[in-house]
Amino acid sequence: MFKNLLLVKPVQASPHVDAGEPVEGGLHGEAGLKRVLTARHLLLLGIGAIIGAGIFVMTGQAAANHAGPAIMLSFVLAGIACAFAGLCYAEFAAMIPVSGSAYSYTYATLGEALAWFVGWSLVLEYLFAASAVAVGWSAYTVSLLENLAGMAGIDWNFPASLASAPFTYTNGRFALTGALFNLPAVLIVGAVGTLCYVGIRQSATANAIIVAIKVTVILLLIGFGAQYVNPDNWVPFIPENQGGDRFGWEGVLRGASIVFFAYIGFDAVSTAAQEAKNPQRDMPIGILGSLLVCTLLYIVVAAVLTGMIPYTALGTAKPVATALEPYPQLSWLKLAVEIGAVAGLSSVILVMLMGQPRIFFAMSRDGLLPKFLGAAHPRYGTPHKATVLVAIIAAMLAAFFPLGVLGDLVSMGTLLAFATVCIGVLVLRRTRPDLPRAFKVPLAPVVCIGGALSCLALVGFMGWYNWALLGAWTVVGFAIYFGYGYRHSLLRR
Ligand code: ALA
Repeated sequence: MFKNLLLVKPVQASPHVDAGEPVEGGLHGEAGLKRVLTARHLLLLGIGAIIGAGIFVMTGQAAANHAGPAIMLSFVLAGIACAFAGLCYAEFAAMIPVSGSAYSYTYATLGEALAWFVGWSLVLEYLFAASAVAVGWSAYTVSLLENLAGMAGIDWNFPASLASAPFTYTNGRFALTGALFNLPAVLIVGAVGTLCYVGIRQSATANAIIVAIKVTVILLLIGFGAQYVNPDNWVPFIPENQGGDRFGWEGVLRGASIVFFAYIGFDAVSTAAQEAKNPQRDMPIGILGSLLVCTLLYIVVAAVLTGMIPYTALGTAKPVATALEPYPQLSWLKLAVEIGAVAGLSSVILVMLMGQPRIFFAMSRDGLLPKFLGAAHPRYGTPHKATVLVAIIAAMLAAFFPLGVLGDLVSMGTLLAFATVCIGVLVLRRTRPDLPRAFKVPLAPVVCIGGALSCLALVGFMGWYNWALLGAWTVVGFAIYFGYGYRHSLLRR
């Protein structure tokens, strides 16, 4: 049995693929996914997935409670861990251009049981991220609508009982909010899920428009906000430690583990590998290009925000808007930021809701999940059944769970997947040195081991209650694996 758990799925050298040619699933008369995405689409999908709640919501709390102005350093540290992981993803995605991302790479290197574990962790990343960001989207949208109503002279408030989860959860404690459920979060997941159902090309086009809006807003924030930066606000750069992970270097590291969330998404590009026209060339462009653009934007935004107001004032639900508050001359920018945030968060939900069904699609085609999840729509060429299932679960999570519970879990699932991918690159270099690699991680031992260790270190900075939730999640995952996947695995048959 132990040997069965370590069974590795053989990798075939991937031939150069052309537009319209499905890689998997086309051989048995089944419908496959369509190869329609270009390098530009992939780059924009990456940026669409990356910039979201991390920068628009979480940065403020991380600066105010943990890192101070050194949140810039937290961004650099998290960015380095992601750059290492991004290089490893680029090597795999160009070599094995399938939709299963880290799950498929692990299946090809470290065996079925670990592949299942990674696939199950990716559910935390994609499905939970879609829900967590939908909750953030709801907060920004309600506030934007109320502001617009106010500007039009209408005294209107969105019903509070329909704008948040029925409970909150902080540091292991539950508390009731009096609300029923989060209606706007359900609506956005429903709308985006419908788009994902209809087509990858339509989804990519919508994503491109949204990315243009959010990047413009961020550039405006940098351009205009920089004029009001007071360098005194950056002193002391690393505030003195106040115990635990409040400030000092401990705080900088805890800050890095929080803002890591802001980088999640570049890896989602790899779930579109099976729909890329030229994955060998374009996957590394999409993954590494989007990561580079966003890292630069994040560090500059962090500098501007902590320079505009004292970091202690940034711990709000909308830190970017908060930083603009003392400057009435920039009130137009505050409105633009709210629009940018609503747009920005929508594209994160979009790419996450695209990624998750594609992972299920790959797992199902390997027999580890029920067959219906591996179905592709005969006309739209999307994994439509998996998309519907994912959208329903994401909507329910977003309706009833607060952002805080979901956010750290998303980061933990992602970090575990990243660490496994980093190790996988080294393993496959050893077991299959013959495979053609269109992109190779430079200085592989240093980058792969550095990537795995830095991702594991960031997991180490998560609170104990997150570990408990992750443990429970893993137990449920393996119960499903032994109840279904282990017995239906096509590879073992
Ligand atoms: N990186 C994505 C965000 O910040 C998940 O919303």
